[in-house]
Amino acid sequence: MNTRLTKIAGTGHYVPERVVTNFDLEKLMDTSDEWIRERTGIRERRFVEPGTGSSDLGHQAALAALDEAGWQPDEIEFIVFATLSPDYYFPGDGVLLQNLLGIDQVGALDVRNQCSGFVYGLSVADALIRCGQYNRILLVGAEVHSTGLNMSTAGRDTAVLFGDGGGAVCLEVTDGSDGSHLLSHYLHSDGRYAEDLCMRVPSAKMKPVISHELVDSDMIYPSMRGREVFKHAVTKFPAVILEALAAENLTPEDLALIIPHQANERITEGLRKRIGLPDERVYSNIARYGNTTAGSIPIALSEVVKAGIIERGDLVCLVAFGSGFTWAASLLRY
Ligand code: ACO
Repeated sequence: MNTRLTKIAGTGHYVPERVVTNFDLEKLMDTSDEWIRERTGIRERRFVEPGTGSSDLGHQAALAALDEAGWQPDEIEFIVFATLSPDYYFPGDGVLLQNLLGIDQVGALDVRNQCSGFVYGLSVADALIRCGQYNRILLVGAEVHSTGLNMSTAGRDTAVLFGDGGGAVCLEVTDGSDGSHLLSHYLHSDGRYAEDLCMRVPSAKMKPVISHELVDSDMIYPSMRGREVFKHAVTKFPAVILEALAAENLTPEDLALIIPHQANERITEGLRKRIGLPDERVYSNIARYGNTTAGSIPIALSEVVKAGIIERGDLVCLVAFGSGFTWAASLLRY
């Protein structure tokens, strides 16, 4: 039988050079390093310099992934770009990345699933490869949050959480004979909670989509019901992992590593307890980067590959929860 599966051929990530510590934030708003560390585990994050967009971070991450895969840009057949912070209201970052890579006319799809964007994108790319439409797809998740946060005390509940960064993977067809391929994906959403974590403006429901009044209001900033997000995240993360493992007749003990979306260290700690795995088998880098939304899983994946924390054939679970609410998991043999 001619089996078509998908494997990760290369990973890459890029974060801006500028490090912003909790102490730096203390100078801008009424917060403290202690409050941020205790509630979130974050010590520092990266912020871009003005003029850098998520397409630029995605571009740098993509170049690193191409290098690891040994691909030239013109070998990419399709692009999938996940972000909630695109350079423009429209078009999306996919075409901007296509142009930055200088590749001719390949299709580019934009994914809008916030913290779950990378896992949703992986599922779409995997399906496109398995069905025979493409052999080589570049998948990117990247965010620039720093320009869209309210960096005053009024915005402290969200401003301290987020950072900028991006990651990428090169995905290619395989027959699976080397034991390295994606297994399956589990995607969920519950739109009843859309307003628990959202940014309302610019909005095509408004006329005009943005105005001086809207800029003066807090509607141009992310708004979050933190406790609601926390409550749902700590149950949905483990639930979708267990759903994925059960579908594949596997158990948590079979996992070499869980790479969760880096939302909050307390959420990750809750996940470790519910799944019953030791700290080192649930990856965390939130202390260094904060929450980079669609960027967080591919950044972490690229880091663990480069550090030798996972090896070819290891069973890995990527899992995310976020705005929407959306949540999702992918199982793969790296
Ligand atoms: N610094 C200091 N004080 C703060 C800050 C801050 N940055 N932010 C809020 N506070 C204050 C509040 O004003 C409040 O003060 P009050 O008691 O005088 O009213 C107090 O701290 C407690 O606020 P709570 O919101 O009740 O704090 P809580 O213990 O719930 O922690 C947090 C807030 C960290 C946001 C928590 O709700 C949480 O972890 N939620 C999950 C949200 C999350 O992880 N979002 C990430 C994006 S979504 C995702 O990726 C899944």
